[in-house]
Amino acid sequence: MVIKPKVRGFICTNAHPAGCAASVAEQIRYIKKQGDLGKGPKNVLVIGSSTGYGLASRITAAFGYGAKTLGVCFEKAPTERKTGTAGWYNTAAFHREAAESGLYAQTLNGDAFSDELKDEAIAKIKADLGQVDLVIYSLASPRRTDPVSGETFKSTLKPVGQSYTTKTYDTDKDKVHDVTLEPASDDEIYNTIKVMGGEDWERWMDALADAGVLAEGCKTTAYTYIGKALTWPIYGQATIGKAKEDLDRAAAAIIGKHTDLLVEAHVSSLKALVTQASSAIPVMPLYISLIYKVMKEEGTHEGCIEQIYGLFNQCLYGDTPTLDEANRFRMDGKETNDATQAKIQALWDEVTQENFHTLSDYAGYHHEFLKLFGFDIEGVDYDADTDPMVSW
Ligand SMILES: NC(=O)c1ccc[n+]([C@@H]2O[C@H](COP(=O)([O-])OP(=O)(O)OC[C@H]3O[C@@H](n4cnc5c(N)ncnc54)[C@H](O)[C@@H]3O)[C@@H](O)[C@H]2O)c1
Repeated sequence: MVIKPKVRGFICTNAHPAGCAASVAEQIRYIKKQGDLGKGPKNVLVIGSSTGYGLASRITAAFGYGAKTLGVCFEKAPTERKTGTAGWYNTAAFHREAAESGLYAQTLNGDAFSDELKDEAIAKIKADLGQVDLVIYSLASPRRTDPVSGETFKSTLKPVGQSYTTKTYDTDKDKVHDVTLEPASDDEIYNTIKVMGGEDWERWMDALADAGVLAEGCKTTAYTYIGKALTWPIYGQATIGKAKEDLDRAAAAIIGKHTDLLVEAHVSSLKALVTQASSAIPVMPLYISLIYKVMKEEGTHEGCIEQIYGLFNQCLYGDTPTLDEANRFRMDGKETNDATQAKIQALWDEVTQENFHTLSDYAGYHHEFLKLFGFDIEGVDYDADTDPMVSW
């Protein structure tokens, strides 16, 4: 079939296998270019391994440090008539590249929140790896079924305490307009913490430790976004921010519970960029289009792979970590420093429907958005008849 992007609102409902492979290959090239990275992980479990920051983590571990990787993701396989999801094709491409480089790679496709998937992962680690010495937790999901109660919780993206009126950009209608977001109820805050908080990260670490598959000195990290004043009302101090605060509690709990294994747990704060998860958050497309403009002009623009390379090289396996008062690794300084934020704030105040495309880098945002699904990538023939049936 000939595969062209089918964009519906903030999501693209199909993906291009050759484009996804090209984008995985580009990230691998970036990591290989960094040369010898020195001491690093050997056996890595990446929970949320197929797109965004998790995929970049898997690529860095495998192609930067030669690590064996076990991935966990939730992706849809293709059929003769419908393409698979981007994460499906990314994973297939990662497996092909890993095999060519003689690197172990296995992926479990299923619900990471379930006990069954955790058991499967443990069995796979026991059979193939013995133990893991790095666990990356990079899930972004709108819902979670709690395996203990069987109840399904849904997350919401709402302010906390009071309503919030702000500018936003509607990517569908190409319109800058004001939006008022009503505050979340206590239930909505609780449910969002159940989905995106630290409970499941903790359950993974407990299950892995109980099964004896965590190596002594194992490192683990979960990803967060902290941001600054412009995004606090809808992110940092909103429902999702409350869930992310719970990661700090979970990190301390993981360290406390697994002192015998000397587990090192950190939350890592990364910069805002276009991923399937962030494009669903109101205000973020506008904010990210503006930071792309400012940070490209400053020469500080980074994507997933540059951020994660820095995280491994400086923080997880380097001796120049930037740690904050809550023991978090901070990789977001180039975005959140006062000078950069002041420039973004000035553009934010000025932006209107009329000047949006000149003041912002929406073209860059849109390109990155399409690229997430394997589209708009140089060198890929989008008129070619393409077989969607790719497996791994
Ligand atoms: N995108 C940003 O701007 C940004 C910034 C800082 C931190 N983060 C954080 O990084 C983490 C990853 O986000 P992302 O933007 O890379 O998201 P993403 O949507 O690109 O990736 C999410 C991953 O989770 C997997 N997944 C989702 N539900 C699952 C389930 N039930 N079982 C198994 N796998 C499942 C997906 O398959 C995918 O691999 C999140 O915690 C997010 O909050 C994102």
